[in-house]
Amino acid sequence: MIKTKDIFVDFGDCRKLIKKVPDSSVRLVVTSPPYNIGKPYGKYLDTIPLDEWKKLIKDITKEIYRVLKPDGSFFLNLSPIPYGEDREILPLPFIGYQIMKEENFKIRNIITWTFNNMQNCTNRLSGRYENIVWGVKDIKNYVFNLDKIRIPYITQNDKRLAGGKGRNPTDVWYFNRVNNMTKKSLNLKHPTIYPLDMIERIITMSSDKGDTVLDPFLGSGTTCLAALKLGRKSIGFEMDSSYKKEIIKRLNVRQ
Ligand SMILES: C[S@@+](CC[C@H](N)C(=O)[O-])C[C@H]1O[C@@H](n2cnc3c(N)ncnc32)[C@H](O)[C@@H]1O
Repeated sequence: MIKTKDIFVDFGDCRKLIKKVPDSSVRLVVTSPPYNIGKPYGKYLDTIPLDEWKKLIKDITKEIYRVLKPDGSFFLNLSPIPYGEDREILPLPFIGYQIMKEENFKIRNIITWTFNNMQNCTNRLSGRYENIVWGVKDIKNYVFNLDKIRIPYITQNDKRLAGGKGRNPTDVWYFNRVNNMTKKSLNLKHPTIYPLDMIERIITMSSDKGDTVLDPFLGSGTTCLAALKLGRKSIGFEMDSSYKKEIIKRLNVRQ
């Protein structure tokens, strides 16, 4: 366990650990679960039968709905994956969307996160996006700090835009992936780290200072780090305690 004034991280199965989180106590959940593509996570076997994977996502989504405040949001990051013997493309974000609907979330956006990488397929188009499904509990009342995430206008010299607040960042986002070189420079070992700046945008947009942000599949601790930088409290769960050292180092906490 890692515990400070603002951070609580525990190790084990998030479906069990989340039971201790009180109802309606969290403003925002942002997470990227395992994609079932054989990543070497350690304790978690990333090649479970699809039905088991769906059950994992459904069980945790149900609990996420319970712990979220009435004006809270859930951001679920998933990717299309090559699946099965034929390596046919399986759109996990569609499955995530379906599960979120079944568990009563109202969908605000399906964000496309696009990036570059070195993958160069020869039998299909190379994949260059993942999705982040944004669901809210109450479509008439949720946190959305648009002015804090506005981006520069495309046409800087247009006089009509003078004094404007900048533009809506839209539902297509470019953020660099955390590649092996970046991981090496930061001395991080986790195989699938999502971009800190992308999670900072989500936390800024959908929570306020002092709020609690939860990530049930914490990995290397990115969500807690982004929350800490932005003055939010955070809760994280991670099955594999071998990432504890990495998380402690990233969050700069004394144990
Ligand atoms: C895609 S990674 C998350 C990476 C994270 N976003 C980051 O930036 O470091 C998914 C993580 O979920 C963990 N995991 C898998 N099943 C879990 C479960 N039932 N409870 C808690 N953690 C789990 C895996 O060990 C893995 O570290």
